[in-house]
Amino acid sequence: MTLYEAVGGRETFALIAQTFYEGIASDEVLLPMYGGNDADLNAAAQRLQLFLEQYWGGPRDYEELRGHPRLRMRHMAYKIDRDARERWLKHMRNALDVTVKAGLVAPLYEAELWDYLERAATSLMNTNG
Ligand code: HEM
Repeated sequence: MTLYEAVGGRETFALIAQTFYEGIASDEVLLPMYGGNDADLNAAAQRLQLFLEQYWGGPRDYEELRGHPRLRMRHMAYKIDRDARERWLKHMRNALDVTVKAGLVAPLYEAELWDYLERAATSLMNTNG
């Protein structure tokens, strides 16, 4: 069984992406990066959802839609310093907590997801300043 299936599949990843982007919508530092008040956060939420689904062994819709992830390259357009990383992870932590409280994600998988997200966020940092 894939982690995708073990945590409840699409429903869970949709909840993570939706909750995460609700956090972005009220983040004064990150929201401008995502296009400010004109941002199409629903489209961005869908990209993140499909990427995470694919990464964890679910359907490969992300690739279909966006091609190879190339995440480091795709993030070069944004200034990702320690503060941006911490803010991103704070919204993701909250999103993950919501799925745990909803009984969708068991502690073992929660730890695995979180470990990956923390490392991925570190790998996408591209500036100290
Ligand atoms: C470290 C802090 C991070 C910041 C500030 C950040 C910021 C952004 C921004 C501004 C976008 C463009 C929004 C859009 O899709 O229109 C984006 C896209 C994206 N981010 Fe991040 N991101 C971060 C970390 C991560 C991490 C850790 C992952 C994966 C685990 C991730 C996955 C993605 C994906 C899949 C997209 C869409 C790529 C595409 O298909 O164009 N991001 N990010």
